[in-house]
Amino acid sequence: KDTAAPSLADGGERFSKSGFIFAAIGSAVGLGNMWKFPYITGKYGGAAFFLMFIICLLAVGLPVLMAELTIGRGGRGSVVASFSRLSKQKGWGWLGFLMILAPFLILSFYSVVAGWTMYYAVQSFTGNLFSDSDYSGKFGAFIGSWQPVWWQLLALVLTAVVILKGVSAGIEKFNKILIPGLVILLITLVIRALTLDGAGDGVSFFLNPDFSKLTPESALVALGHAFFSLSLGMGTMVTYGAYVDKRQSLGAGTLAIGLGDLLYAFLAGLIIFPTSFAFDIAPGQGPGLVFVALPAAFAAMPFGSLFGGLFFVLLAFAALTSTVGLLEVPVAFVRERFGWGRGLSVIVITLLLFLIGIPSAISVGGAVGGLQFGDKSFFDWMDFICSNILLPLGGLLITIFAGHVWKNAEDEAGLSSRWYRIWIFMVKYVAPILVVLVLLHSTGALDF
Ligand code: PFF
Repeated sequence: KDTAAPSLADGGERFSKSGFIFAAIGSAVGLGNMWKFPYITGKYGGAAFFLMFIICLLAVGLPVLMAELTIGRGGRGSVVASFSRLSKQKGWGWLGFLMILAPFLILSFYSVVAGWTMYYAVQSFTGNLFSDSDYSGKFGAFIGSWQPVWWQLLALVLTAVVILKGVSAGIEKFNKILIPGLVILLITLVIRALTLDGAGDGVSFFLNPDFSKLTPESALVALGHAFFSLSLGMGTMVTYGAYVDKRQSLGAGTLAIGLGDLLYAFLAGLIIFPTSFAFDIAPGQGPGLVFVALPAAFAAMPFGSLFGGLFFVLLAFAALTSTVGLLEVPVAFVRERFGWGRGLSVIVITLLLFLIGIPSAISVGGAVGGLQFGDKSFFDWMDFICSNILLPLGGLLITIFAGHVWKNAEDEAGLSSRWYRIWIFMVKYVAPILVVLVLLHSTGALDF
């Protein structure tokens, strides 16, 4: 007998076929692609790292993505309900709870950066950003003030409004509007970047691999990023999977999401690297790249305040389609577990997120004298715990569950027998081993 809480998706909430693809691509494409990807690619050798990222995405990311969607659609609920329903073991439900906690914590600091992007968009359009050229001082003064708290609240409220409207009128509709907007902005900015003087060096840094730069460390960083970029290990894709129609092909969906994410990363690279090289900016300099270095580049180009504004709007769009996917995870869980309505669940969780987010929002620039614990700020700790520990742990649970625990994955996946064999081999053996290596490396237990 099914002892788990009532199934959410049986309540009638469903994505349309294209709505699901839009929503999942929206979740995958985010600050990871625009903010993290460029600086880690810059740091780990440009094209060689990008190549590694593609391999990781295809070989490990897609099989795990397929596993998450299959578990979600088979279990028709949050990770907790799906795990306990499909395994018929309560213990698995508790393990699934890790994947409810992760997106909740991620959202608490991801929304901080989402807030920065909106602030920078406004500052850019109004021209304030370019009033003098001390971009690092400006960024420092902004993140060192209380302002990020209010911008983060704005990001959370926008996200909450979408989630309040539910799956098809909220998540699906929002993504269907924002993603075409995102594509138009992206293409405009790629054309701008590629036509800058000196753009060619940036393009070749990004696209001509120097294989001597490939190290075990860069491979593990690439794999970790493939996970983050596809929103894996955090319950989002399981939860979205719960709302997918039984007749939709999950294999084709997985491929479309993977290619969408990859294409976006590629085009983001074609904006960031040509722009950085054209203006002598080191692309591996760290998270400040987007908020400190690029404004200098925009200032130096014609119509810079327009292009700068568009760039930060692009970032904000990408961020919000991801925050929506993050918020739906704990909301789905709370509705299922406590039987609360969508409205109450969204309000309570958003308030909690705002409270937990405050220390992240003020810890980066030290508004309160630096919320520093050991060698990291509160924000960096949250990022470290989520991206380096909870996320690979979540990924590992998914592979063990789909590969070794759940007996009927094959029926739900609906792949041809050849593809099924390849998929299940990757999920059973290859992905878990690689994910354990990522976990050991990212926690510092394995050093090169
Ligand atoms: N994939 C998003 C990015 O690359 O920015 C981040 C993310 C969104 C991770 C949603 C997890 C998630 F559930």
